Amino acid sequence: MRHIFTIILLFSTISFAKDSVAMEVFHTYCWGCHHQTAEAFGPSFKEIANKRKKDEIVAQILSPKEMYKKLGYQRNSMPSFNDLNATEIDAIVAYILSFKDKK
Ligand code: HEC
Repeated sequence: MRHIFTIILLFSTISFAKDSVAMEVFHTYCWGCHHQTAEAFGPSFKEIANKRKKDEIVAQILSPKEMYKKLGYQRNSMPSFNDLNATEIDAIVAYILSFKDKK
């Protein structure tokens, strides 16, 4: 399993720099609670992509305490990731939005 993961990570690093940043952020910080298309502890990226704009996603990542009510949640169970840099934020948000359904 570990090897498959390493190979995938390596492949994406060689292929697309931005995608590899997104994959690293995803697997390091988000994957425990969010999956791409299936609901986990938090909503799937597909669900998020279909109902939110880029700004809302960025705001939620940086300060979920300020955002959860605006997004319609009763309580805040997500930690903030305000130590991610701009490149990492851009990459993970683009990755989330890539799951938006095509019309
Ligand atoms: C400890 C679990 C946990 C981790 C880790 C986590 N999240 Fe969340 N996230 C949640 C939960 C649960 C919600 C639903 C709101 C709530 O209950 O706080 C949520 C909500 C969100 C939302 C808003 C959902 C909506 O309705 O639009 C976004 C965007 C989001 N997470 C992105 C991320 C990203 C990106 C990462 C990684 C950098 C991440 N989350 C890491 C648990 C987590």
